[in-house]
Amino acid sequence: MKVSIEVNGRPVAEEVPDRTLLVHFLRDTAGLTGTNIGCDTTSCGACTVLLDGESVKSCTVLAAQADGHAVTTVEGLSDGTEDGLHPVQRAFREQHGLQCGFCTPGMIMASVSLLADNPKPTRDEVRAGLEGNLCRCTGYHNIVSAVIDASGQEVDG
Ligand code: FES
Ligand code: FES
Repeated sequence: MKVSIEVNGRPVAEEVPDRTLLVHFLRDTAGLTGTNIGCDTTSCGACTVLLDGESVKSCTVLAAQADGHAVTTVEGLSDGTEDGLHPVQRAFREQHGLQCGFCTPGMIMASVSLLADNPKPTRDEVRAGLEGNLCRCTGYHNIVSAVIDASGQEVDG
């Protein structure tokens, strides 16, 4: 079927098999490989993107389900900031919120969504909000610090 999705503000339209997953559409059709595939079974969150502003695991959404909708990937975050980074990306860098970085795009997209819903979260709220995202390097402490930093709160530990 023909699928048309606004990806990071740019229309992307392509004929794809009906069963095509959104993550494959983003990586293979739109050419945006920042959205990672870690498990393909809804467990890891590496594939997290925003669908009409809400975070979703793009390995659990058919491209057809996103037809006519707007998707934001990690590549779409960087506009309009002084160093080309979104504040959440900058906070991940400053707080060392990544090790191998494989989980990072999904963590960042989930964090952007979390902060949109709860601009001043506690550390416990950040942990709860990111529980669907796994970091195999177990870098959670600094990831939580990064989200606290991005929220403009003092990072205290
Ligand atoms: Fe989608 Fe792991 S690849 S949750
Ligand atoms: Fe390696 Fe999270 S930084 S999986």
